[in-house]
Amino acid sequence: MSRTDLVEKVKTAILISGGGSNMVALVKAAQAADYPAEIVLVISNRPSSGGMAKAEALGVKTVCIDHKDFKTRKSFEQEMDRVLREHDVELICNAGFMRILSPWFVRHWLGRQLNVHPSLLPKFKGLHTHERAIEARETEHGCTIHYVDEGMDTGEKIAQAKVSVSPSETSETLAAKVLKQEHTLYPNVLKDVANALIFRRTQ
Ligand code: GAR
Repeated sequence: MSRTDLVEKVKTAILISGGGSNMVALVKAAQAADYPAEIVLVISNRPSSGGMAKAEALGVKTVCIDHKDFKTRKSFEQEMDRVLREHDVELICNAGFMRILSPWFVRHWLGRQLNVHPSLLPKFKGLHTHERAIEARETEHGCTIHYVDEGMDTGEKIAQAKVSVSPSETSETLAAKVLKQEHTLYPNVLKDVANALIFRRTQ
């Protein structure tokens, strides 16, 4: 019997804004009986997010919290925080979640919020990472999973995966190569982080 048979899985929420392919990879990985995290909720800040239908098709609860319905960033985040607590969420995975989070929210979830970023941080923080890597004539590019802190894409790095940039690369071909790596790396990292949380619980 493994340690995860003895203790509850780590209740995890995924925050998305778009197509949700990383969310799908995480949900599918978490369907394995011995995976230490359970995806209890997917939240999108955009009603048009294609990931919501995908999460529902996979049997995961979804909640849309449209940031445009709130007067302030803080009130939007307070509602997210309320919904996360309501579902006893212990860990958050940002997966293509394209809203900047305020310091109060980040501090509240410090050490319990992960993000996937499409570059080899600290290179290319922010947007348009693939175009910028090609423009900079990088020969290697990739993705990073990191903890979320108060800066933009500055939190403690957990893992990275690299791809090579060929001379004929376009931002589309590079994005597809990197995304493929994200889909393997993120579930592996979530597994390690959740196992570590479970280990801490048993101490
Ligand atoms: C992914 O490439 C992810 O790394 C990136 O958005 C894409 C979401 O794809 N995230 C960021 O740029 C965050 N700064 P997905 O919705 O198909 O998972």
